[in-house]
Amino acid sequence: MAHCKTRRNPFVAATGGGSSSSSMTTGITRPTKHRRHHLLLLAVLVYQLLAATTARAYAPLSNVSLARIPSGGADLDAVTGALLAPILIPRVPGTAGSEKAQRHFADFFAHHLPLWTLEWHNSTATTPATGHMLVPFANLVFRRDPPWVIAEAGAGAATAAPGDVARLTLAAHYDSLYRPEGFVGAVDSAAPCAMLLHVARSIDAALTSKWDAMRAAGHAPDGLEEEKGVQILFLDGEEAWVSWTDSDSLYGSRALAQTWETTEHEGIFSTPLQAISMFVLLDLLGAPGPRVPSYFAQTHWAYQQLAAAEERLRKLGALETEASNNHPFLPEARKRPEQFTRGFVQDDHVPFMERGVDVLHIIPTPFPDVWHTLDDDGAHLDPPTVRDWATIMTAFVAEWMELDGFLPPVPLPEDTKKWAKTYTEKSEL
Ligand SMILES: *[C@@H]1O[C@H](CO)[C@@H](O)[C@H](O)[C@H]1NC(C)=O
Repeated sequence: MAHCKTRRNPFVAATGGGSSSSSMTTGITRPTKHRRHHLLLLAVLVYQLLAATTARAYAPLSNVSLARIPSGGADLDAVTGALLAPILIPRVPGTAGSEKAQRHFADFFAHHLPLWTLEWHNSTATTPATGHMLVPFANLVFRRDPPWVIAEAGAGAATAAPGDVARLTLAAHYDSLYRPEGFVGAVDSAAPCAMLLHVARSIDAALTSKWDAMRAAGHAPDGLEEEKGVQILFLDGEEAWVSWTDSDSLYGSRALAQTWETTEHEGIFSTPLQAISMFVLLDLLGAPGPRVPSYFAQTHWAYQQLAAAEERLRKLGALETEASNNHPFLPEARKRPEQFTRGFVQDDHVPFMERGVDVLHIIPTPFPDVWHTLDDDGAHLDPPTVRDWATIMTAFVAEWMELDGFLPPVPLPEDTKKWAKTYTEKSEL
């Protein structure tokens, strides 16, 4: 849908430039009072307009499809889980632990999801902790576009170019804090990475079926509207090495946003940055009792989709946690436009948001108690919460990618289980 482009929001530039002394603090900019007032009014109007148009563009998943969203099950276990256990190790950039995490992601897709492409985005930088040494940072981008999207466009109506694809962009950082030594970062953010692996494998077969069906019906490529793809970013170097500043933080995401802003390609979108339909960032997830606010008025409609998925999954009995005292993971679906402030949490979305990308930030406020302590390890994860987040995110992505009717009834193909088993055994050696 080409009109999606209007969703990219004209005010986000106003949120840039916030500074903070640590990743905990809230970045707040101070436009003049009048300007802020006008921006707010405008934001309210546009928000209402968009809420009206996007509501029509989205068909909610049926209950049958929702019930087919697989649980991550034992694969998300902290000790034995094939998706999570191998990365519950220190993953400081440039170290062996970091490489092991990279291999985990690359092997997972290569073995189990070969239709996803892997694009490395490598950079180097000095850090205040490492002096003149250049530290390597490596982002991994796994992408699945419709099969008729061809790198070399020009073969006529039967193909589309990479620049014609609007990509739902799911992100988590895989690096861990440099100090304290031995810091694992289970909620920060090994568990979110594992959740994204689960999302990818859970939608893969349905994507194939949907695109096959579109082709069979002669609806692909569309030619007039943008195509819909999905990509998963495992970002490196989110953490500060000494203390959080604009230059000591977000090493991987800053470099990636810059590269994507300046890489031009043919198609509806002239850069990979413009091709991001929504930047969905997961962080600090896996501790019990999370409360994730809706941070941005301009993407509140997407937050509402996510909250609705949670609520419907709970009603269906598909989640394991109790929403205690009517306190779901996502409690702000009814937040009103005038209730939004300019506060947000500094994280990997910032370099993208500053460049006008729409952001949905899935991070709890307050942060989990274990935040940036040695207690942020596998033992302190709440397994039902980890599994429920994976389920909720999968439902959200399946809905976004319009997979209703294409989700297979069997939760996990047999070969996944076999792969998961060998992988666990291998990593135990
Ligand atoms: C990027 O770095 C990783 C190791 O960190 C390496 O395996 C990979 O081949 C590099 N890729 C490119 C394209 O340079």
